[in-house]
Amino acid sequence: MSKVVEMAPGIFWVGATDWHRRIFDCFFSLPYGTSYNSYLIKGGQKTALIDTVAREFGDQLIGKIGTVVDPSTIDYLVMNHAEPDHGGTIPQVMAAAPKAKLVATKRGVEMAAVFYDVPPERCRIVADGETLDLGGKTLQFLDTPWLHWPETMTTFCPQGQALFPCDFLGAHIASDKLFAEEIGGLSIPEAKRYYAAIMMPFASRALRALDKFDELPVKLVAPSHGPVHSTPEHILGAQRRWASGALEPKIVVLYATMYGSTEALKAALVDAVSSKGVEVVEYNLAVADLSHIMADLVDARALVVGSPTFIGGAHPLVHTAVETVRMLRPPGKLAAVFGSSGWSGGAAAHLKARLESAGYEVLEPVEIKGPPRAADLEAARALGQQVAERVLAG
Ligand code: FEO
Repeated sequence: MSKVVEMAPGIFWVGATDWHRRIFDCFFSLPYGTSYNSYLIKGGQKTALIDTVAREFGDQLIGKIGTVVDPSTIDYLVMNHAEPDHGGTIPQVMAAAPKAKLVATKRGVEMAAVFYDVPPERCRIVADGETLDLGGKTLQFLDTPWLHWPETMTTFCPQGQALFPCDFLGAHIASDKLFAEEIGGLSIPEAKRYYAAIMMPFASRALRALDKFDELPVKLVAPSHGPVHSTPEHILGAQRRWASGALEPKIVVLYATMYGSTEALKAALVDAVSSKGVEVVEYNLAVADLSHIMADLVDARALVVGSPTFIGGAHPLVHTAVETVRMLRPPGKLAAVFGSSGWSGGAAAHLKARLESAGYEVLEPVEIKGPPRAADLEAARALGQQVAERVLAG
């Protein structure tokens, strides 16, 4: 979006839209691009900028600020989070606004020194609940650490009833429209995929932050990526559902296949699951996108993993997917594994051990040698039925 949007009286979106970015953190696909949201709050006496943008958009940010106020008059640069997609332009803003203080948590100030060489005398540490008076507008700071770095905090402006949680409650969407209500159907599914890949390991921290937000009269949720929500109950309710680990009767099946044997077992297993009326989502890891897998695992009751044996263990694509699952810690903890081998076997045992060490209950694996015979397919079906029955039992 090239324009500046006044979201509420004296509260302006001055961010940058990155239409063409296609990957984040070398992991997360961005089919819809993203945005780096920065917000300018103009009080009667003071002006604050909340977060900045990625470094390559620095001139655009300064230009947008300049349509509202002289950038040199900014008093506070609030850094809710230090990651370079939001902090990359801190040096440029601090140079353009020579009297500005960087406002952050104690950890945030330490990180601003490490990442952006901001000296301590240009920083102001704020504690949980502390406020800054801008003259007719107030900024209130909430300690919301580990969403998703240790220094993260949230800013609330009571006069606009606007909440600025930085990454938390965000989504990677580039759009010429600012509000989720204008963008429509993409907003919540993309926020879920974003939560899965970035916040899911910190679900308990997310719930603590949501509890704090519940005490505030929030009317606008303005994260640092993607749409601003003017009906906050939609995103806050969805986020609480995801973070609380509410599960659906759904099974996610991940597999790789080299000569079709593991795929044939998968087909038999999936057929058995479907015949029980349980939803299945399949991912062939040769073509799958890990972030979509993680989004489905936010509320799937069970995970099923199939792999050929590859040098005594799991296929590399399956290994990577399972290690990513271990890192991102989805809440469903029932699993099944199956696979095929030429001579030694080993993939199923490897996967079972990795999943069990992450807290999964793993059903007795099915692992075969060579192409599946009728009895092997029957064993895969039986495993599918067993998983489905367990999922239906809740
Ligand atoms: Fe959008 Fe953690 O940075």
